[in-house]
Amino acid sequence: MSTKELRERRSRALAPAYELFYDDPVHLVRGEGVWLFDNDGRRYLDCYNNVPSVGHCHPRVVEAIVAQARLLNTHTRYLHENVVKLGERLGTKFAGKLGACWFVCTGTEANDLATQIARTVTGRQGMLVGEGCYHGNSDLVLKLSTSSYPAKDRPDWLAAATAPDTYRGPYRAGSEPGGEEVLAERYADSVADCVAELAERGHQPAAMLVDSSWDDNGLFVPPRGYLARAASIVREAGGLFIADEVQAGYCRLGDTWWGHERYDVVPDLVVLGKPMGGGHPVAAVVSTPEIAAAFGERVDYFNTFGGNPVSAAAALAVLDVIDEEGLLKNAHDVGQHLGRGLAQLAKEHSIIGDVRGAGLFWGIDLVSDRESRQPVQRAETKRVVSAICREGVLTGIMGTHGNVIKIRPPLPFSRENADHALEVIDGCLRALSH
Ligand SMILES: Cc1ncc(COP(=O)(O)O)c(C=O)c1O
Repeated sequence: MSTKELRERRSRALAPAYELFYDDPVHLVRGEGVWLFDNDGRRYLDCYNNVPSVGHCHPRVVEAIVAQARLLNTHTRYLHENVVKLGERLGTKFAGKLGACWFVCTGTEANDLATQIARTVTGRQGMLVGEGCYHGNSDLVLKLSTSSYPAKDRPDWLAAATAPDTYRGPYRAGSEPGGEEVLAERYADSVADCVAELAERGHQPAAMLVDSSWDDNGLFVPPRGYLARAASIVREAGGLFIADEVQAGYCRLGDTWWGHERYDVVPDLVVLGKPMGGGHPVAAVVSTPEIAAAFGERVDYFNTFGGNPVSAAAALAVLDVIDEEGLLKNAHDVGQHLGRGLAQLAKEHSIIGDVRGAGLFWGIDLVSDRESRQPVQRAETKRVVSAICREGVLTGIMGTHGNVIKIRPPLPFSRENADHALEVIDGCLRALSH
């Protein structure tokens, strides 16, 4: 079937809310490792997809799914070893007492549940989030997603702290005497202001929910000490700290398994999603035995598909592959190489205002003017990523202004893959500037 025909059928069969990437959308039919293949057999280097975290269609994940699907698939109301093993294995990946798990199917559900848990155990309704963040799309979680929900319609139980944007935000790297410490304090002051704002509206904080990569904002690396300060302000006010690791988790940022670990914070609740099942829909909330017990006293939680034996088998295979193939170290090493290459590109292209990231998660912030840091229009970013796509490399778009090229490949990305992507991006930026 032709791509044109498929597009037409798609627009009739699917609700119009579904976006397609790129000026000329790609029609993918097969994936293997970091490569994707379209219906004409053309190969694309995947620099975008984090859900197939261990590579597209990793044989270990596929075989684990198939073997378990042949045997049995039920739910968590029967005893099954897979889900128990998965909870135990995940527990070994966290610091402190984190290790009590709830299994769900999407990041949205996990954030919804984490919020419900925080509200139930604290007996409060107030929630703090960051400005410009995304956490999912249920009725509740969309309200917590300040990037998508209209600011004028925010509920009175919600307060949004200034995101720690040290490139374009109110407090910028290099602009404050005292360096990162002072920047961290300035941004954390906004969290304290949010607690005060909630109090004025008659609410106390149940929790603060933070995406440890600030992905939807455009990928921020906060000043050292910011997250720990934010967490302690919320805890002093009696609330819990929830780390949304849907983007940053599973070794994405290279040094540590989880984003929050980079910032010396042990959360009360952690939300997992996207990369967890290597392509299969699995997500989770992880907390301490105390919080889990306090919630369990009041709520009998059940999720029909969450934690089923097939999903658990996929998630266990992902943990095995990451450890056995040394993908944390790979994310670190290749990430550093990629970061150096992107920094070099920034020297050569005036359209690049900033390059930021860690591990295998990088953003190229495009500007129309380096001095003012004026972001390019989203249409311009789309033009660039579409040109990169035509050259056989898939990247994406992120950021409040839609001006940041998103590079977030599967974890088995190699130095050669990084060099290939850098060469293509360089060539496209050169061609577009003429
Ligand atoms: C940080 C973050 N949290 C939660 C979600 C929601 O996950 P899902 O789309 O699986 O519901 C997303 C999705 O993009 C996300 O980026």
